[in-house]
Amino acid sequence: MQLDRDDERILAGEQGETKQKMLGLLVALGKVFGAERLVPIKSAQVSGASYKTIGEYGLQWLDSLDAKAVVPAVLNPIGMPRGRWEEMGVDPGFAEKQQAVVAAYARLGIALECTCTPYYLRETAFGDHLAWSESSAVSYANSVIGARTNREGGPGALAAALVGKTPCYGLHLGRNRKPQVLVRVEGRGPEWTIADYGALGYHAGKLVGNRIPFFTGIRPDRDGLKALGAAMAATGAVALYHVDGVTPETKKNPYDTAGLETIPVERAEIQTLFRDIPVEAVALGCPHCSPEELATIARLLAGKRVKIPLYVFAAQGVIDRNRKTVAAIEKSGAKVYADTCMVVSPVMEQYAGILVNSGKALAYVPDMCHAAGRIGTTEACIRVATE
Ligand code: F3S
Repeated sequence: MQLDRDDERILAGEQGETKQKMLGLLVALGKVFGAERLVPIKSAQVSGASYKTIGEYGLQWLDSLDAKAVVPAVLNPIGMPRGRWEEMGVDPGFAEKQQAVVAAYARLGIALECTCTPYYLRETAFGDHLAWSESSAVSYANSVIGARTNREGGPGALAAALVGKTPCYGLHLGRNRKPQVLVRVEGRGPEWTIADYGALGYHAGKLVGNRIPFFTGIRPDRDGLKALGAAMAATGAVALYHVDGVTPETKKNPYDTAGLETIPVERAEIQTLFRDIPVEAVALGCPHCSPEELATIARLLAGKRVKIPLYVFAAQGVIDRNRKTVAAIEKSGAKVYADTCMVVSPVMEQYAGILVNSGKALAYVPDMCHAAGRIGTTEACIRVATE
């Protein structure tokens, strides 16, 4: 792999042991995947932030590191809202460990914005190279923005943040971004919601696996795309998808899809996911809510009180910029939390059934929260929470 003089100096240990090891990790990764060079990145998003997922060993490893991020870098959601963990009912022992994890990342220069939607906080542009790790963020960056990132593991994303580069292979290369399978959606109605797109992603992810799908027959907006990609990354391993005439690369490069395997998907197949099972709580914001989603939730809650717990998750920066909307939501008794989510917070484990409007959450709730999951539209979620 070609390395420049700065890289050679880092590898020689001139900038400390941590950067030496981190660049060593990136070079090793690059060699495994056949990268010819490193590419400078615009930002990093680092997973492995919840104590629920990294545990004591991960915390000790973070504490052993000594360097600072050289590009803007944020964290993935952690196990609790940093400022409101007591109110959320998080165990103090867990909170102490989670705070230690956060402090370790802060020492490494990672901004304490704990979100899977970093694209709402900092502009990310078409063609930018990134080292992001949360699967829905990776999917959104590649597909909806047209930026370029592989799905990094936590250590790889952290190494990239500290070095400012990542190995140039996989989705960083244009030749690896072409569609590999055609998904022809039939029976779409104008009333498709983010829950429908999430359910489509849940279904399609199982069919396409780790291939790059090219969708026809749908015209989702950005929230619909977010829901579609997040779910496909959960039930499949889709890090990039295209939607004909909607996602940016299909507009810039008219891809030739002739000869690709075609998978037809009927709307009726997706509707079977909308099962009616009893739930004890409702959770919205997987991935974290956009300002538009918060506004929809506030509108649907106007004049109502919640009867069962209703959790809404969003990035702190989005909450800060939409204070009035958040206040309107919380007036109903619902809670809008930053930093965490329904999947990584241990608090959600207390419920036997959880209603969500997200295909990704539907995929993860059973294993991560030990609860039955049900998907419904945002409207249905608010109705169930308030009636
Ligand atoms: Fe984000 Fe948590 Fe869903 S990290 S994509 S809200 S599982």
